Amino acid sequence: MVRGGVAILDFGSQYNQLIARRIREMGVYCELIPGNVPLSEVLRIEPAAIILSGGPSSVYDTDSPHPDPAVFRIELPILGICYGMQLLALHENGKVEGGYEREYGPARLFFEKDVGIFNDIESGLQAWMSHGDRVVEVPRGYSAIAHTESLPIAAMADVTRRRYGVQFHPEVNHTEFGEKLLRNFVFGISGISPDWSMKTFRTESINTVRNELAGGGNVILGLSGGVDSSVVAALLHEAVPQRFTPIFVDNGLLRMGEREEVIETFRGHFGMPLKVIDGSDEFLSALSGVTDPERKRKIIGRVFIELFEKAASEIDNVTHLAQGTLYPDVIESISVRGPSATIKSHHNVGGLPQRMNLKLLEPLRELFKDEVRELGRELGLPERMVSRHPFPGPGLAVRILGNINHEDLDILRKADRIFIDYLVENDLYDEIWQAFAVLLPVRTVGVMGDERTYDRVIALRAVTSTDGMTADWYRMPPEHLARISSSIVNRVNGISRVVYDISTKPPGTIEWE
Ligand code: XMP
Repeated sequence: MVRGGVAILDFGSQYNQLIARRIREMGVYCELIPGNVPLSEVLRIEPAAIILSGGPSSVYDTDSPHPDPAVFRIELPILGICYGMQLLALHENGKVEGGYEREYGPARLFFEKDVGIFNDIESGLQAWMSHGDRVVEVPRGYSAIAHTESLPIAAMADVTRRRYGVQFHPEVNHTEFGEKLLRNFVFGISGISPDWSMKTFRTESINTVRNELAGGGNVILGLSGGVDSSVVAALLHEAVPQRFTPIFVDNGLLRMGEREEVIETFRGHFGMPLKVIDGSDEFLSALSGVTDPERKRKIIGRVFIELFEKAASEIDNVTHLAQGTLYPDVIESISVRGPSATIKSHHNVGGLPQRMNLKLLEPLRELFKDEVRELGRELGLPERMVSRHPFPGPGLAVRILGNINHEDLDILRKADRIFIDYLVENDLYDEIWQAFAVLLPVRTVGVMGDERTYDRVIALRAVTSTDGMTADWYRMPPEHLARISSSIVNRVNGISRVVYDISTKPPGTIEWE
C-alpha cells in the first residue's frame, strides 16, 4: 500500500466536485488543482495518483486548458475522464477528432478486455456520456478496452504504465458501476491506502494551527453558532486554548433560544472565553424602514463589521482571524471556470481580514460539509449543533419579507420554533436539508370563533439538497402539514393562515429574499 492522495487536475467539468467527494468517501485524501498549473504545483500534495478531469473544452480549441507536459513523464498512475481521456490520448501521441454529434446521456458499455479497472464490474451496464470529441486512435502502448454502440473507443489503457482513459463519467450517480471503477483505480491500480479520516485531520490541523501561531499572537473568530464556525471554535480551543477568543454578535435576528444555546455550549460546556456582543438595537435601528433584500444584507454586513472590530480591539495582540471557509467555496474561487455569478451577496463580511490587517486562518478549507460535521463530532460538539440545518448570516431579516420590527420577529420566532420542534420530534429533521418559516407582508381574511380576522400569513419552506446550489421541495406528508399548520394558527397570535412552498431551486431560491 502506498501513502498519499490523489491530485485531480481540474479542467472545468461541472462534475468535478463529485470526483473529489467519491474519493474522500473512500478514506483517501484528494484535492482539485487547476488543470494547467506546473507539475511542481501538482506534486505539492504528494499525490500517489493523478486524475485528469472532464471539461467543456475541445482539446483543439486555441484557449483550451492543457496539463504541464511533464505530468505525462512522471511515473504515477493516471486516469483521464472524458476531456481528460482526450488530453491523455493527445499528449501520448494518439488521435482525437472533433466534429461528431454531441453524445449526452446513458449508453451501454461493453468491455473488450478484462483489465483491472473493470474488476467486479459486469460488461453491458449503463455509463453516463457527455462529450463531443472522441479518441479515434489510441497512443502506442495503449489498447482500446471498451466500446458503446456508437463509440468504438470508450475506454483505453496502457496497463504496464498504469494509464487509463474513460470517455464516460464514473463520478456521476447515473453510472452504475462508477464508484467501483474509481475504487479499482485508487486501490487496485494505484495501491493507495485509505488513511484519510477526521481523526488524522484533527491531529494534523491542530499542529498546523499551532505552527501558524508559533509567533505568539492571538486569534479571534466570529462565532455564529452554525456548524462551520462552531467546529472552527472547537478546533482552535483544542489547539491554542489560552490564545483564542470567539466573538458572538447577537444581531437580534436569531431564532428562539439561539443565543442562550451558544453561550451554554461554548462558555458552559467547553469553557471558552466567549465574548458576547448584544447588537440587536444597532441592527434593528439600521434596518428600520429598509425593505430591499440586498440593502438588508449590506447593512447587516456593515453593522456586523463595526461591532466585530470594536470587540476585537478590546483583545490584546490579535494577529489572526479564523473563518469557517469550506472546500466548495475554495473550489469555486480557484476553478478554471472562475467564480460563478453571484445571485445573492451571501458573503456578507468578505473583506474583513484585509480591513483589520489580520492574517487569515481557515482550518476547514479542505473539507466538505459532511466532513466538517464528522470533525465536529470528533471534537465533542453536541449532535444537535453538528447536524443543524444551515442558517443564513442575515438571519430572520431575510425571512420577514419587507420591513422588520420586534413584533414581527417575535411572531416569526414562535412559528419557526413550532415548525422545527415538530420536525425534530417526528424524526423528519434529518431528512430535510433546510427548513424554516417565513413571515409574509400580506394580510388575509379568516374566521376564529364567530369573529372575522384579518391576519398575517406564514409560509413554511422545507427543501432537500446536497449543497444548496439546487434544491427540491420536501414531500411532506399532508398529515404532518395539517398538524403543524393548526399548531401555528392556534398558538401564534396574529397568524390565521399557513402555506407550504412547493417551488424548486432553480427557478426559486431557498430563502424568499
Ligand atoms: P438561496 O436562498 O440563495 O440560499 O437559494 C442558498 C443557501 O444559502 C443561504 N443563504 C445565505 N447565507 N448569507 C448567508 O450566510 C446570506 O446572505 C444568505 N442568503 C441565503 C440559505 O439559507 C441557503 O442555505
